[in-house]
Amino acid sequence: KLMKVFVTRRIPQEGMKILSAAGVCEVCLWDSDEPVPRSELLKGVQGAHGLLCLLSDKIDVEVLDAAGPNLKVISTLSVGFDHMALDEIKKRGIRVGYTPDVLTDATAELTVALLLATARRLPEGVEEVKNGGWSSWKPLWLCGYGLSGSTVGVIGLGRIGMAIARRLMPFGVKRLLYAGRRVKPEAAELNGEFVPLDTLVSESDFIVVSCSLTPETQGMCDKAFFSNMKNTAVFVNSSRGAVVNQEDLYEALKSGQIAAAGLDVTTPEPLPTNHPLLTLKNCVVLPHIGSATYSTRGIMSALTARNLLGGLQGTDMPSELTF
Ligand code: GLV
Ligand code: GLV
Repeated sequence: KLMKVFVTRRIPQEGMKILSAAGVCEVCLWDSDEPVPRSELLKGVQGAHGLLCLLSDKIDVEVLDAAGPNLKVISTLSVGFDHMALDEIKKRGIRVGYTPDVLTDATAELTVALLLATARRLPEGVEEVKNGGWSSWKPLWLCGYGLSGSTVGVIGLGRIGMAIARRLMPFGVKRLLYAGRRVKPEAAELNGEFVPLDTLVSESDFIVVSCSLTPETQGMCDKAFFSNMKNTAVFVNSSRGAVVNQEDLYEALKSGQIAAAGLDVTTPEPLPTNHPLLTLKNCVVLPHIGSATYSTRGIMSALTARNLLGGLQGTDMPSELTF
């Protein structure tokens, strides 16, 4: 008898092909580009042996209970896993697959693009061209901040943080600071200095947040954090929105306490179109597209399917989360 798998969204065909070719599971797909309603998720997982989900699906006790004792594996199409109740998942002996490494380059590239777009005010410039605000070449107009000679601080120098740092250094960055749980030997190749968070915040011209969301990092970027930043510094976050206290960020941007912010992640997602942050010219918000290249999403889809199959069949998963 085929095992049941619930897939919470349309995903790139690469993964779907792998699942059907394996011939071990019957796939129930929420056949839409929009999120599965909670009630449909709770129905869809009933009796499932495998769950293929996204970072926007909250996988909590209620979902695990709804799935029941068959559930062997949860495979998420993401590197982040803060949307899953890992303690409960562990208690039930369920294995978890995720997608590290394959999205590192795409996400680092997007973060660099966001940093440059924010620091050099690209969205404002594009807007001015369209709305007639471009009246002449003006010496004092649309000036921003450059990387050359700057100090960059990366909070969370993991796989993605390191890939961001590697891409930024050739722009002429003078000093690389990083903060996090521990010293990273690989930072030596970039002369990265492990410093206390406070030091990183007060000395950096660009702050890039690339840490995972945990109880320790939740709300880490708050009023005290922004007050400690230089008035000329640019803040960029491509990790998880909840690392930032958005009211405090709004105040810091509005008052000129910091120069600008670029966010690929927010709370909530999507950010309501009437959100105060969207009224600020010095805030660039993207809709969580760090890993969004055709190629990367295809590879993520395939990896997510292979992780799922490994979990279903009790064999190796190419990227199993150990927790
Ligand atoms: C994106 O945020 C991911 O976790 O893959
Ligand atoms: C800019 O275009 C310059 O020529 O300085």
